[in-house]
Amino acid sequence: MSSVASFSADPVLSAALDRNLALDVARVTEAAAIAAARYMGRGDERAADLAATAAMREALTTVPMAGTITLGALADPDDGLFRLGEGVGNGTGLLIDVGVTPLEGATICAMGAPNATACMALARKGELLAVPPVYMEKIAVGPGVPEGCLSLDADPAENIRALAKVRGVPAEALLICVLDRPRNEALVDRVRSTGARITLISDGDVSGAVAVGLPETGVDMYMGSGGAAEGVLAAAGLRCLGGVLQGRLMVRGDSEKAAVRAAGITDPDRILTMADMVPGETMFAATGVTDGALLRGVRLHAGSARSSTLVMRSRTGTLRFIDTRHDLSKLSADR
Ligand code: FBP
Repeated sequence: MSSVASFSADPVLSAALDRNLALDVARVTEAAAIAAARYMGRGDERAADLAATAAMREALTTVPMAGTITLGALADPDDGLFRLGEGVGNGTGLLIDVGVTPLEGATICAMGAPNATACMALARKGELLAVPPVYMEKIAVGPGVPEGCLSLDADPAENIRALAKVRGVPAEALLICVLDRPRNEALVDRVRSTGARITLISDGDVSGAVAVGLPETGVDMYMGSGGAAEGVLAAAGLRCLGGVLQGRLMVRGDSEKAAVRAAGITDPDRILTMADMVPGETMFAATGVTDGALLRGVRLHAGSARSSTLVMRSRTGTLRFIDTRHDLSKLSADR
């Protein structure tokens, strides 16, 4: 696997994640988010997911790359969802691995609740860890925290105290984001024992974890388990922001063990670092479907829509917040 330095030094490969691609990528997550937003609060998460996927797939056809879906999809979906290994992009240019979650938080979109997004990450072929659909234990922090300062092996309370020390604040000043699940209850108790504050989210832990890289969200640390693909996508976002995410797969039963082995991960108990998950240059985009800490949701009007998107590149560390008005009568003709 090449280092970031060798990637950036290679003008041909660097062009793959050139700034011009940022707008193409933004168009893709915008299309998915607008399609999903039409299903907001209509109680049909599957329809929302399928609509977001179809729109993302169509928008991807215009992106100048020879992309392959390697993350966030199933090997053999029985419907219109993305398939692992599916080719995306217009087929020209460089070989790119694509991680997708066309509708991150299908349930919350269907309920009209906050925090649903459409997300995507790109990296050079082989540089986005292709994890199977299992859970991952995660801890994430924003820039300025040395990676060795925190560890999934440590007690969560110790990690919080370590972050408080680095930030020079008492633990009570920290805000920890956790996915609200019974399996995270013991963790929540440990966090509360330090006096730190918690924001429990019902779904959508890509944006929950990426939020730690953006001070304006007020979130200092993400902890707890969620989807593994979502962990790698969040790691891509945090690589662009200078943050850090550690993950560890949670493998239950023989079929998950086999899936992890088939993905080439020989030691499933190992802590996965940023270098394991996103070793090289990456690009990350997310568009809000419903309102969240990171992004505003899509506003649908008669004939138009307004979307809010974040696109980032790790090479430059540039963050673009793109506020777009779409003419819906022309949207599918030419994004
Ligand atoms: P979906 O939109 O695919 O349902 O994912 C939503 C989500 O909350 C993710 O953000 C998270 O990683 C995962 O579900 C957690 O899985 P579970 O709901 O099984 O705990």
